[in-house]
Amino acid sequence: MRVGVLTGGGDCPGLNAVIRAAVKTSVGFGWEVLGIEEGFDGLVHSHTRPMNAASVSGILHLGGTILGTTNAANPFSYPSLAQGGKTIERDISDTVVTNFRKLGLDGLIVIGGDGTLSIAERFYEKGMPLVGVPKTIDNDIDGTVISFGFDTAVNTARDALDKLHTTAESHRRVIVVEVMGRQAGWVAVHSGIAGGADVILIPEIPYDISKVAHTVMTRERLGKHFSIVVVAEGAFPAGGVPTYTEAKRAGREQRLGGICERVASAITELTGKETRVVVLGHLQRGGPPTTFDRVLGTRFGAGAARLIRKGAFGRMVALVPPDVKSIPIRAAIGRMKTVPVDNDIIESAREIGICFGD
Ligand code: F6P
Repeated sequence: MRVGVLTGGGDCPGLNAVIRAAVKTSVGFGWEVLGIEEGFDGLVHSHTRPMNAASVSGILHLGGTILGTTNAANPFSYPSLAQGGKTIERDISDTVVTNFRKLGLDGLIVIGGDGTLSIAERFYEKGMPLVGVPKTIDNDIDGTVISFGFDTAVNTARDALDKLHTTAESHRRVIVVEVMGRQAGWVAVHSGIAGGADVILIPEIPYDISKVAHTVMTRERLGKHFSIVVVAEGAFPAGGVPTYTEAKRAGREQRLGGICERVASAITELTGKETRVVVLGHLQRGGPPTTFDRVLGTRFGAGAARLIRKGAFGRMVALVPPDVKSIPIRAAIGRMKTVPVDNDIIESAREIGICFGD
């Protein structure tokens, strides 16, 4: 039995914990393991490396992925140079299936977010025996209560908020902090509550900037001359649209960015307060995974190998507390797990005075 392991999409703390557990468990089952480099691109070009217990030694605490990754190489719409120097998208998925067979693989563990798992589902439907492991710091994959990486990202953002509080207070400023979260505000909500934010803006609750300004001025009147505003990158005003820095191009999705400046300049305009912006960006994707993410990553990696042993292809591991279970990949993809706005977490935050801009 020979299995492959790949990581696709944006990197995320805990990926190495998953790889380590998947490899060690597979080796324990007596299987050969091939590491596929840089996501599905590794199957396009047959870039692989043999893996064993020694190759995953000492990586548990490391951020990133030792296998490399990409979020710009979907084999079903692969960016290729056409005549005239224009980049177009081509379907080269058959090459991947052929290479998979040539490599003598009997199973594949695909570790990735919604995009990578959607690609995996299409390959499963083309006959590839694979299983999935959900990965995202955004925590927006449906079917699993939490994905590994989220806890680390939240802790990084919370740590930044702790540090920004003192400088905001010393200078009597409003600091607007942009955190990741394309369509789901999980990182903003959790880090904002834990980091004592005064305002949290998320994609699930389109905001009215006058409500944000009102919160800042109410604090001012109460003698709190500073405020902390946490904004998810995908947040947008009521009746408006998200802010992008780059349009979609062949092989790449459009890139979000700029909401932080937009919110900060509007606050200055409406309140006269001095503002500063901090975009946490990819800091949230790096660093050593937290204890929680190391444990969840280990459970997911070992669980994925067990799915292969059972022949439960087309399924992915999912945290359904207290257990790691499995669900069909197709049940999880294409539907974002957004923050339920009627949930007690939002209700509690509102009750302690946090403004959501509505
Ligand atoms: O989906 C995870 C994520 O971190 C998003 O929150 C963010 O918009 C995106 O990845 C950024 O990806 P890139 O690595 O292409 O900048």
